[in-house]
Amino acid sequence: MTDCNKLASIAEELKIGGFSRHVLLCIGPTCCSSDDGKAAWSKLKSILKERNLSLSIGPNACYRTKADCLRICKGGPILVVYPEGLWYAGMTEDRIERFVEEQIVQGRAIEEWIFARNPLPQPLPSTNST
Ligand code: FES
Repeated sequence: MTDCNKLASIAEELKIGGFSRHVLLCIGPTCCSSDDGKAAWSKLKSILKERNLSLSIGPNACYRTKADCLRICKGGPILVVYPEGLWYAGMTEDRIERFVEEQIVQGRAIEEWIFARNPLPQPLPSTNST
């Protein structure tokens, strides 16, 4: 049986419920080489941490997830950011700093790197059952 109290505690430590964006980055190996994917992931983690955007709350707080396939499988590393639902191609290490500054901090899409859009409807219905 799942211990929801324990999971809720983990979620709280991860600031789930307090962040404003979620970035999923595919690290390959089909859309890009594993080396390029890992380098991009490492850069994303370090910049978010440096700028205090990871494990934080607020309008620029960003949760990050490393993925092993987002089903595009070309032109990677592929990245998607929510709630905007913007799909970015070619997100190699050298693009990550600009991405964090413009997309995450300033909320400004980098049009030339975007190949698809799927914004999620907002506000989403509450799942609280209290
Ligand atoms: S391997 Fe990256 S999208 Fe499929």
